[in-house]
Amino acid sequence: MQYSQKVIDHFMNPHNVGKMEHPDAVATEGSPACGDQVTVYLKVNEETKVIEDIKFQSYGCASNIATGSIITDLAIGKGIEEAKTITWKEAAEALDGLPPVKMHCSVLAVDTLRAAIQNYEIAKGLIPIPEFSKETIIEELKKVIYPQVGEDIVTLKMVKYAGLDDGVATIDLDIPKFDNFRDNVVEEIREHLEKYPQVKNVIINY
Ligand code: FES
Repeated sequence: MQYSQKVIDHFMNPHNVGKMEHPDAVATEGSPACGDQVTVYLKVNEETKVIEDIKFQSYGCASNIATGSIITDLAIGKGIEEAKTITWKEAAEALDGLPPVKMHCSVLAVDTLRAAIQNYEIAKGLIPIPEFSKETIIEELKKVIYPQVGEDIVTLKMVKYAGLDDGVATIDLDIPKFDNFRDNVVEEIREHLEKYPQVKNVIINY
């Protein structure tokens, strides 16, 4: 697999790695695509809401370590509102790209950063606990990467319908029958949605 020099550099010498004592917020997220995990710790200035310190721990692949490292560089010194807008594409670009089958590693890193920020906001009473809705499902589907091209299935218009009715999530997919990645995509959607206690059943039509 071809990695950029930046991915190799961040993998060999990751920035801001390790556990933080007494963080203001922490989040651990796992990738349904591979089972790897990232933990992000934050120290946030109470007055300015600027991320003054950030650390991460990785339990996964080289891209997992490299993307964990790069998001700490991207987020440190930013206000939480700005840090929330960092996208997985920006993280991948900051590493001079990732192989398409490794794009989900940058999704995991950014997802964990956002979860840590959200935990901070909830703990400080800045936002209410988010309600589970159809929008939550669509946001989760945007994290499912089609590995052949390294793009998410919503952007690729593979999702024809997404609905939520009485705890049943229904997804209609447009994905060729003989596509090698079809089963991976279906499995990943399930894992993204089944982690929510509000989801009693997931129906995927394809
Ligand atoms: Fe699991 Fe990279 S393969 S995060």
